Amino acid sequence: MEVNVKVLISEEEVKQKICEMAKQISADYAGKELHVVCILKGGVFFMCELVKHITVPVTHDFMSVSSYGDGTVSSGRIKMLKDLDESIEGKDVLIVEDILDTGRTLHHLMELLRTRKPKSLRLCTLLDKPDRRVVEVASDYTGFTIPDLFVVGYGLDYAQNYRNLPYIGVVEMED
Ligand code: IMP
Ligand code: MG
Repeated sequence: MEVNVKVLISEEEVKQKICEMAKQISADYAGKELHVVCILKGGVFFMCELVKHITVPVTHDFMSVSSYGDGTVSSGRIKMLKDLDESIEGKDVLIVEDILDTGRTLHHLMELLRTRKPKSLRLCTLLDKPDRRVVEVASDYTGFTIPDLFVVGYGLDYAQNYRNLPYIGVVEMED
């Protein structure tokens, strides 16, 4: 089987959008300190680009959960692979994730983080696929709303590949 990747959102468009998101976040958190919780592995490319353009003081931590196997079908289960290093109690927390798909992962994650008493908890995703939503989750900051396509690049993988593509692409499989 041959796999082709077609550009959906160019590198320039992604960078431009992340700058705009950072500007909005900086304005919303003016006078505050922001604690970013990046969801590994996919969120890391987006987070690095985003925080470079945020002008309020920022700290960050990582968490790793899995919901997908190595293919394109959701397992519907959440597994904690790596917890945060630091407490989030009393902090203004912003979760940074690559994509909001069925919503299962982020719903569970947000419920868990709320029990740890952050001062505030918001969500920021580069992409949103609302057509796929199974569990209600509202993103406070969304880069691009896309149709129900399986995308790769900018942190997103297909069987752990293509995360390093500097653009968002669509995987096309041909026999
Ligand atoms: P959810 O729990 O269904 O919202 O799944 C979220 C996770 O599924 C994301 O963090 C991604 O790792 C993965 N995912 C969902 N859609 C895609 C896609 O189009 N490409 C690559 N990974 C995806
Ligand atoms: Mg993934």
